[in-house]
Amino acid sequence: MKIGVFDSGLGGLTVVVAMTEMIKGAEIFYVADTKHAPYGEKTKEEILQFSLDITQYLIDHHHIEALIVACNTATSAAIKELREAYPGLIIIGTEPGIKPAIQATKTKNIGVLATPATLKGDKYQQLVTTLASDGDIKLYEQACPGLVEQIEKGEIQSSRTREMLAAWLEPMLSNNVDTIVLGCTHYPLVADLIQEIMVYDIVLIHTGYAISRHLLAQTQNKGHLNEGPLKIHLYTTGEIQTGIIDQILPGHESVKSIKI
Ligand code: DGL
Repeated sequence: MKIGVFDSGLGGLTVVVAMTEMIKGAEIFYVADTKHAPYGEKTKEEILQFSLDITQYLIDHHHIEALIVACNTATSAAIKELREAYPGLIIIGTEPGIKPAIQATKTKNIGVLATPATLKGDKYQQLVTTLASDGDIKLYEQACPGLVEQIEKGEIQSSRTREMLAAWLEPMLSNNVDTIVLGCTHYPLVADLIQEIMVYDIVLIHTGYAISRHLLAQTQNKGHLNEGPLKIHLYTTGEIQTGIIDQILPGHESVKSIKI
């Protein structure tokens, strides 16, 4: 099974980490589109074009049979059009985990951290209208412009990143939020910092494992045996911090540059 995965940069590797625990007998071709990062501050049309171009590259060069859009922002901007353009491909997107957050919260106060484009998108608005219409649930939504860039620079524990997060988390801290949805695949990389700033124990929701389970079920339906080694190939369209890749996926820091 050949699986394409893409994100604007390092974030989608948090989904690949979950995949490595469940998927066997497959090759993963991961594209980090750092040339165009951050996606979260681009228009829907721009993100859609990047997503179509990367998918076409993965089909032409690596003959993928399944595609994971390991990016909430690209899922929001492009999943519908990708499914229309590639009806034969298994396509799985990434959405903020509002449903598991509703199941986890005790205080009924849930924080959502995501990119500006994800929070503005129709897909997120529909998700919230369907799932969080229970009058008791209160969502504290926060766009985090600049956080993806900090993470891409490797500033996972820096004082600037801490200051940015502290300001965004303050309303959650003072309103008894006990569950925070990491609505961008980059944000699990600053999960420790978020937990530290929140002082008391919180539940952090990210959807890498749910995506992997979904992928496994869909590929097994098509005859995938899930046996044997898993190979991972990494590609980037621009600059990337290989040191961070080594922290996220030890032993996989070798990345090839590609032009799309
Ligand atoms: N990892 C992407 C997401 O899940 C980051 C988007 C960006 O590049 O701003 O939304």
